[in-house]
Amino acid sequence: MGEWNNAQVVFIGGASRGIGAACTRVFAGAKWRVAAVARTQPNVAAENLLGLPADLRSNDQTQKAVARVMDRWGRIDAVVHTAGTILNPVPVAGLGWDRWARTFEACLQTAVNLVEATFTEVSAARGAYVFISSVGSRKVYPGVADYCAAKAALTQYVRCLASELAGSGARANTISPAVVDTDLLAKAPFSREEAESWHALGRVGSPEEIAHMVLVLAGERAGWVTGTDVTMDGGMSVLG
Ligand SMILES: NC(=O)c1ccc[n+]([C@@H]2O[C@H](COP(=O)([O-])OP(=O)(O)OC[C@H]3O[C@@H](n4cnc5c(N)ncnc54)[C@H](OP(=O)(O)O)[C@@H]3O)[C@@H](O)[C@H]2O)c1
Repeated sequence: MGEWNNAQVVFIGGASRGIGAACTRVFAGAKWRVAAVARTQPNVAAENLLGLPADLRSNDQTQKAVARVMDRWGRIDAVVHTAGTILNPVPVAGLGWDRWARTFEACLQTAVNLVEATFTEVSAARGAYVFISSVGSRKVYPGVADYCAAKAALTQYVRCLASELAGSGARANTISPAVVDTDLLAKAPFSREEAESWHALGRVGSPEEIAHMVLVLAGERAGWVTGTDVTMDGGMSVLG
């Protein structure tokens, strides 16, 4: 294994596109060993990169993906959770429980499965979790009450997780982005120009900008940061 022998290991859940794919590039560039996990096989293969297909809504598939990483590298220092989705806007009275369940499975069940599969390893490594929540966890976006509620639940879940991890020295934090330039923006029911006008900086964020903050929170330089939500919104909140 040579030069990678002592490199830290990150498990990225939701790594095939968007923010998760940017995390794969940024962590690999920072000399971490990266397990890139998504339902679509992430297209990565190198000494320090392991692409694993898994649906993180499945407890069994999540456990098997974690076992593959432990077999290969024997440790997990950080877990990044980006898996999630936002569905087409529907008025709150017509969402229906099937839709609520789909959103909660994508945004929250994936996180819960990932934590339950890695809690022991991350605690042993005095490592860190970083979850991608959303400004929607506290701001109202019409037609996506399920998404806003799922992200609020995720953020509070991570605060509880941070409290339970703290005894081991391990940490857990969320990042709440405003609009980021990924496939989700391409599918959104608003234009890029409209989205840009919501941010004081006059542009949407890039996946790499989010990934660089993920790297900081995952690493020991953020060793005293836990149970916190980092807002990355291009100044959206200062516009009111
Ligand atoms: N883009 C934004 O404007 C924005 C803003 C705020 C928050 N966020 C949040 O940031 C996170 C990432 O967003 P993004 O824009 O990068 O989304 P994206 O481009 O749609 O990427 C989502 C990633 O998650 C994976 N994924 C989804 N469900 C999964 C599952 N059940 N099991 C395994 N992997 C799964 C997808 O891969 P597969 O489909 O191959 O499984 C993909 O790699 C999401 O939680 C989103 O809510 C995004």
